[in-house]
Amino acid sequence: MQTVISVTNLSKTYASGLRALRSINLDIRRGEIFALLGPNGAGKTTLIGTICGIVNSSEGSIRVDGHDIVADYRAARSMIGLVPQELTTDAFESVWNTVSFSRGLFGKPANPAHIEKVLKELSLWARKDSKVMTLSGGMKRRLLIAKALSHEPRILFLDEPTAGVDVELRQDMWKLVRSLQASGVTIILTTHYIDEAEEMAERIGVINKGEIILVEDKAELMRKLGRKQLTLQLEKTLECIPPGLSAYNLALAGYAPAFSPGAASIVSYRACASARPCPPPG
Ligand SMILES: Nc1ncnc2c1ncn2[C@@H]1O[C@H](COP(=O)(O)OP(=O)(O)OP(=O)(O)O)[C@@H](O)[C@H]1O
Ligand SMILES: [Mg+2]
Repeated sequence: MQTVISVTNLSKTYASGLRALRSINLDIRRGEIFALLGPNGAGKTTLIGTICGIVNSSEGSIRVDGHDIVADYRAARSMIGLVPQELTTDAFESVWNTVSFSRGLFGKPANPAHIEKVLKELSLWARKDSKVMTLSGGMKRRLLIAKALSHEPRILFLDEPTAGVDVELRQDMWKLVRSLQASGVTIILTTHYIDEAEEMAERIGVINKGEIILVEDKAELMRKLGRKQLTLQLEKTLECIPPGLSAYNLALAGYAPAFSPGAASIVSYRACASARPCPPPG
């Protein structure tokens, strides 16, 4: 697949001396959903900020669709929409004006039909004339997405899009992200949650202490890290694994008094050493 963002030997040292990014090399493929997974302070927001031109890098280079983000910053930035982690937006403006203004910042001609479509998709249409300060936290987060989509970007960054939002809004965001991808938009999102990365992304990059420690296709990562465990509560106590089940890597886990005293459970669990096959019949 074609590369749309190319990050080469990128490092960032803040004025405080803190080295937030260390020689990052990363390629984002056109049209993919890429999740950047890492703990607090890992460098996710710094990396995104640097690609979007908000944070100056200390070393290295970044190209967005072939445009160097320093030498050719206008072309690079016009392709990108950013939904920031922090809720920052003008409190006294209306929803409609705020989103329309964002589009204007990129030098795009007014397109009320597009703004209407975006506000409707984000369930903000009924609040288009409300002042931003009167919106709820979840609505403000949707407004940030609307602003980021106002200039029809081909690449969308979502920095912790589902932090502090309810289940319904989380589902709506995932739906929106999928429909954007279907229309050809490349999506990069950051998250602390491996389940969110698993649900949404095709590839996952793990960042820790400013270093990308792995980039992997989701399916491959889940195969390496994932483990499924099935626990069955049985009606009758089993003394041993029946021969017919011997191929399934099962173990007897002992009694389960919390559920039904006297019932044993079978657990599929590789590390359990207590599996004991039944003696052959006769
Ligand atoms: N403007 C700044 N000046 C100095 N240090 C900063 C600045 N912004 C971030 N840092 C530091 O850089 C490191 C990486 O921060 P960053 O915000 O990129 O992490 P993050 O992975 O986005 O974390 P979180 O999951 O908490 O959002 C942290 O140690 C942070 O304190
Ligand atoms: Mg962050």
